[in-house]
Amino acid sequence: MQLSTLRKLIFDKNIFAFLRLGKQVDTVYRTSFVTAANSSGLLNSLSQAEQSLDQLQQQLTIEDNKRDALEAWLECGVRLGELGFSAGRYRLKGKLSRHLAKQENQIAAAMFEEAIRYHYDALLSAPTRMKQNNAYQLSDQDGKVIAQSSQILEPFVEEAIEWGLKKQPQPKAILEVGCGAGKYLVYLSKRLNSCDITAIDYQADVVAHANQTLIKHGIKSVDLRHKSFFDLQGESQYDLITLHNNIYYFTESQRQAVLAKALSLLKPGGQLLMTTSCQGGSSAITALNLWFSLSDIGGALPDVEQLKRSLTRTGFSQVNSKRLMPGESYFAFLAQK
Ligand SMILES: C[S@@+](CC[C@H](N)C(=O)[O-])C[C@H]1O[C@@H](n2cnc3c(N)ncnc32)[C@H](O)[C@@H]1O
Repeated sequence: MQLSTLRKLIFDKNIFAFLRLGKQVDTVYRTSFVTAANSSGLLNSLSQAEQSLDQLQQQLTIEDNKRDALEAWLECGVRLGELGFSAGRYRLKGKLSRHLAKQENQIAAAMFEEAIRYHYDALLSAPTRMKQNNAYQLSDQDGKVIAQSSQILEPFVEEAIEWGLKKQPQPKAILEVGCGAGKYLVYLSKRLNSCDITAIDYQADVVAHANQTLIKHGIKSVDLRHKSFFDLQGESQYDLITLHNNIYYFTESQRQAVLAKALSLLKPGGQLLMTTSCQGGSSAITALNLWFSLSDIGGALPDVEQLKRSLTRTGFSQVNSKRLMPGESYFAFLAQK
């Protein structure tokens, strides 16, 4: 390089400002590559054995006319140090990809994918999405990734269930709203001997998933229905109604109606138990709040005190909240009819 070129770069183009960003840019490239490598199955494949381009093309079901693009993508992984390449074969090399490829790290990998695929996208596109009124839809989320990442919440939700059962140790009839993959139906079925459990979810594929979960655990007693909560008919018949991680799937204007519906379906003395991320959490929860605020599905995460006031206003008594995660804005709410 000529001295004049260097002088121009330094004095006219302020090259040092760009060089200072190098590390950050590298992190963006690395996280993007490894996330896609994980969700496409590349990490899993390379964790079993080294693979040639031909083998990867076949395994990832890439058409011949996209073979060059596949090679270019893998080359990015090699350049970033996440993949190794020698004697015509690719292998896992980088710390991040080896970490996420481990079977025992699958929940962490799904949480990482949720952060990159959804939270990062929300942060990146929020101003344009707001201007163009381009709201996220339910189909913008991969239910499998969300189901897998939310497994980290299981111990906390189970603690909340125990909190509810302390007040009412032998509920005879339970309704679970938005049952998702059905893991808490398994917990309740195993935990309670004789109890009628009804579960609903308004997504057909999610109900099918919950059904598979129940079959896998040999549970036949749950009355599982593909239904929206608002379409559920019936009288006051439940001792316990649970809503885990789904109050923000309802718009803020719908939430009062959700609470009123729950109240109407509970027997006198019955309990409503909700678990949810709330306003004021870590950057992950704040980004989740952004995603839902930008969506057409539901709305912002609830505010703890506001939700308690709504419960009281609806007619619930003994309204209590409990922080489930130390230092994080993840709460349980218990209220009585
Ligand atoms: C984040 S998932 C939580 C699933 C499960 N409760 C858990 O904690 O793992 C929220 C679920 O609520 C369901 N849901 C949202 N609105 C609903 C409604 N109006 N009626 C029934 N289910 C609903 C969604 O389909 C989704 O499965």
